[in-house]
Amino acid sequence: MDKASLSRLFSKQLSKLRLSPIRKVAAMLDEAASKQDIISFGGGAPSLLPPKELIETFIEDLESNPADYFKYTSTRGALAFREKIAQDVKEYSGVDYDPAKEIIVTEGSTEGIFLVLASLLEEGDEIILTDPTYLGYSEIISMFKAKEVRIKQLKEHGYQPSLEELEEKINSKTKAILINTPENPTGRILSSDVARGIVEIAKDKGIFVIVDEAYKHIVYEKENTYLQKIDKENVISVCSFSKEASSPGFRLGYVCANEEVITNLEKIKQFVTLCSNMVGQKVLMNYLASEIKRRYLKEVVIPTYRARRDFMLKMIRKYLPDSNVSTPEGGFYVFLDLRPWLGNKFENDEDVMFDLFKRKKLVIIPGSYFGKMGKGSFRLTFVSEDLDRIEEGIRRLVDYLETDAV
Ligand SMILES: Cc1ncc(COP(=O)(O)O)c(C=O)c1O
Repeated sequence: MDKASLSRLFSKQLSKLRLSPIRKVAAMLDEAASKQDIISFGGGAPSLLPPKELIETFIEDLESNPADYFKYTSTRGALAFREKIAQDVKEYSGVDYDPAKEIIVTEGSTEGIFLVLASLLEEGDEIILTDPTYLGYSEIISMFKAKEVRIKQLKEHGYQPSLEELEEKINSKTKAILINTPENPTGRILSSDVARGIVEIAKDKGIFVIVDEAYKHIVYEKENTYLQKIDKENVISVCSFSKEASSPGFRLGYVCANEEVITNLEKIKQFVTLCSNMVGQKVLMNYLASEIKRRYLKEVVIPTYRARRDFMLKMIRKYLPDSNVSTPEGGFYVFLDLRPWLGNKFENDEDVMFDLFKRKKLVIIPGSYFGKMGKGSFRLTFVSEDLDRIEEGIRRLVDYLETDAV
């Protein structure tokens, strides 16, 4: 078939979709995974294994009760799993969700975000995102012919969004604000005042607050801010097991929201994935047994990642004393402003990333991938490399900034 006939067959909407910028980095990350000499501060995957007792019980139980692992579940997910999720959410956030009506299990938070946006957006609608923000939202919004409207988050304001700007940008086409806390890429946790302001404005204007809580348990000094605690009805909370349980390969997450939202998500999910994978639901049911989860987070996940975060910050402060780097409160990333060293080169931060990879075999992610306000900063993952390699990576970066970048 010639190219013109072939493209006639595909949806016109596809030609408007850009490939996610992270795709351009995928080749570098693949190479980094197989070559020791490449240091990667690029990816977003946890570097730990899930809790040991979870893996042991999984193997034993799979052998004794194999049939349980290979079934369909209901579209909303196994009820026993949703019951455990409801208990867990209540324990950490204090908010009650009815497991039968107000929770749906999804294939990671990626499917959760997709279902929520699919249930809300039509051509011409608007949705508010922060700038910078996680790069997994924009393409879905454009797929539904809707428009994203950004509100700034400035480093000097601790990356908290401005409530005045939020209020100004809401109009009759606005359906929701989508925000994440703790945030990828900046590491900020929404302050309780700003969170309250967002929820109140959204309620007043009659729009949803969608909160992506993929990193809600990856917090270092203080708890995450739970927006649904302020007003459960207006808030759609999208969660993930990928980061907290170090299990991104299970592709499991969940959405908590009011009954009508969940019913609408279910309508779409039945034709996208029918239900989420049962193997992961069975294993994670066990993880949610609170002593396993609590112990794993407290004794393994948080101390390991906190030590790596602190060490990366120490190295940055040692080798780039003028960097004024801020301490991420949660999540996996340091967001580092490199404008003082890059001159005009920061305008094309993607080229800087490729050049740094070529010359120094170091992967970092350009801030412009997260929005215009991110330009000049770079996202450095601190969870994936050990301390020696974190130091070596920062040295390579500094060497590049002092010799090649100027
Ligand atoms: C903020 C945020 N949301 C959602 C996701 C998607 O994660 P998953 O689909 O594995 O739950 C990620 C992954 O890095 C993320 O950083």
